[in-house]
Amino acid sequence: MAAEKFMQELGVTIHHGGIALGVSVGVKLGLFQSLAQLAQSKDTAVTSQQLADSLDFKERYVREWIGGMVCGNVVDHEEIDGVNKYWLEPYRLPTLLGTDMEWVACYSEILRCAFAAAPMVEKCFPNSGPRGTEVDAYDDLHEFLRKRAVRWQKAENCKLILEDEHLLAKLEAGLQVLELGCGAAAPTKAMATLFPNSTFVASDLSESVLEGAKADCEGLSNVTCRTLDACNIPADLAGQFDLVMLFDVYHDVPQPQTLVDGALNLLKSGGQFFMNEIDVHERLTDNKNNKGIVSALYYTISTMYCLPTCINTPGGEGLGACGGKELYERRLKRSFTKVTRVGEKFGLYFLCTK
Ligand SMILES: C[S@@+](CC[C@H](N)C(=O)[O-])C[C@H]1O[C@@H](n2cnc3c(N)ncnc32)[C@H](O)[C@@H]1O
Repeated sequence: MAAEKFMQELGVTIHHGGIALGVSVGVKLGLFQSLAQLAQSKDTAVTSQQLADSLDFKERYVREWIGGMVCGNVVDHEEIDGVNKYWLEPYRLPTLLGTDMEWVACYSEILRCAFAAAPMVEKCFPNSGPRGTEVDAYDDLHEFLRKRAVRWQKAENCKLILEDEHLLAKLEAGLQVLELGCGAAAPTKAMATLFPNSTFVASDLSESVLEGAKADCEGLSNVTCRTLDACNIPADLAGQFDLVMLFDVYHDVPQPQTLVDGALNLLKSGGQFFMNEIDVHERLTDNKNNKGIVSALYYTISTMYCLPTCINTPGGEGLGACGGKELYERRLKRSFTKVTRVGEKFGLYFLCTK
């Protein structure tokens, strides 16, 4: 009985993986976007030929792909007079198209990145294999991270995440801000637009990643981009900043405590450290019982990216994406005089005072 149940459950998991891959193709190729523009009701439903023509695609590929999306309950369908017709009901649009926090479909892209990285990471498992992988080997992942930053695009979200009234007032008046491990630098971009009196430095270890940030922040005169190793900050930056920010980076760096010590050194007296991390527990048991399959995704993505890129550096701690909020809070409290949780609606954010 247990064997049969397990077989059925795992089968369903793998079937859902197929749907997720199809969703990622739809996001990547703009198929959902185009279908939404063409048809949002049965009255305006289109054929696979019409959808293909709207994007100058081959009909046969579109027809095969959309079959998966219909059977996976992602796209609406009816056979009308022997002809297959497709549309997207309006309720599906926020989830499928990139407008705000509800854009769940963008997360399907992280799966294709993980699948693409698997052959490279599998070589790291044997004792005789490579130590880890290079950050620059994950172009697609960085593209996904850029899309995931959707929550920062809305000024109201940005303010709700920052939450602290004093900090918001100080940002209005003008602060010196540094973002470490910025990736696409979405928070820097959003905040630099919202707070023109503040000055921002967006930094990342990877020059290729920073190219994306530079392109995204172009035209913002209060932003500069700089290559920086968050675990080895140049001495000339000591005491220069009022606010140091870190989003989804702490668990990725080889020496997280060195990063925090460096951030303390970068801050002026009374300066603040704003850190975002993945909202999971430290103990596997707690993740299994409270977070379920979301944690399964985090552990797998961590296996494919966070862990191998981190331990590629000799001596890298290798916390992994599920380092856990209890551990983060404990450690931050050892380094800062005050540590508070903010923006809880949006995830795990700590605001710390030097
Ligand atoms: C998971 S990504 C997060 C990117 C971005 N903050 C975001 O939330 O989308 C981790 C980032 O940390 C950067 N990184 C890794 N090790 C670093 C280090 N030692 N110093 C600075 N950046 C680092 C990577 O290049 C990558 O852009």
